Amino acid sequence: MHTRIKELENQFNSELAEVTNLKSLEELRIKYLGRKGSITALFDEFKELPKEEKPKYGQVLNRLKNSTQNSFNEKKSLLNEKEKSQKDFIDLSLPGIKTNLGTKHILTQTLDQMKSIFKVLGFSVYEGPELESDYYNFEALNFPDDHPARDMQDTFFVNKDFLLRTHTSPVQIRLMQNKKPPLRAIMPGKVFRNEAISAKSYCLFHQLEGLVVDTDVTFAELKATVIHFVKEFFGEDIKYRFRPSFFPFTEPSAEVDIWWQPKGKEGRWLEIMGCGMVDPNVLENCGIDSEKYTGYAFGMGVERTAMRKYGIDDIRTYFDNDKRFLIQF
Ligand code: DAH
Repeated sequence: MHTRIKELENQFNSELAEVTNLKSLEELRIKYLGRKGSITALFDEFKELPKEEKPKYGQVLNRLKNSTQNSFNEKKSLLNEKEKSQKDFIDLSLPGIKTNLGTKHILTQTLDQMKSIFKVLGFSVYEGPELESDYYNFEALNFPDDHPARDMQDTFFVNKDFLLRTHTSPVQIRLMQNKKPPLRAIMPGKVFRNEAISAKSYCLFHQLEGLVVDTDVTFAELKATVIHFVKEFFGEDIKYRFRPSFFPFTEPSAEVDIWWQPKGKEGRWLEIMGCGMVDPNVLENCGIDSEKYTGYAFGMGVERTAMRKYGIDDIRTYFDNDKRFLIQF
């Protein structure tokens, strides 16, 4: 029996050394120390031994049981430690997960750039509602009752009195009504027109309006401001011109053109904004003394201006949200 005990112990120890996880450790425990395990079986044999042999083997068997149990416990806590640290392990050398960061929409970028050019000149930003009344969109801006812009074809009327603003000029009125001169602000925002959708026009676009009201404001100052903007936005070498025009809310009025020279094509003048001296009627409509104050205003389309700068030839691409277009900017 002695040799069998020794053999069993060696066998147990060599199998234990091979064990690498808790599952096979438990299988090993059952094999040797479980109810039908081979070490437990030795104890059954021991019971059958003649009385005088018992003390001799009892000691050896107990030693075997204790030493295997101890080795088992040791191994178990070792494996427990190992599995726990494996669970917590973070491999810092693994490559990270790539996320697709979006970009600012080209219209937002353009507006940001426009705003920063005017902010340097002391303009603040003022905003008004997209749903407007006929009064703010037309009447206060000196539009005669029969003006074609009031036509159902251009304007999205919500009901008899309310509409989606067709330009940002009504924000001028709100500003003049709410704040006292001196005023110096730009007013960016969405505008809506009930037009046939094409490469050139869309039912929705953005405008940037500007208004300055103070004593002694002159057309020369308007020109200087517009020229500064045009050069900052398109570059020092841009060719531009002021052309006499008409708007109900400004007198005199002008339109600003820039020279557009696409590669390999014939160049031409392209209109980018309207401007003029605020009509005294408009100042009076807002409770501003037109004897004491003068003002100038300008308004430009953001989509169109960006189309010139970046050579975009279809206004609809701004609103398609096609990633291939958006990621170019
Ligand atoms: N509101 C005009 C439009 O939508 C643009 C404009 C022209 C705005 C002259 C102005 C201005 O402030 O002075 O076509």
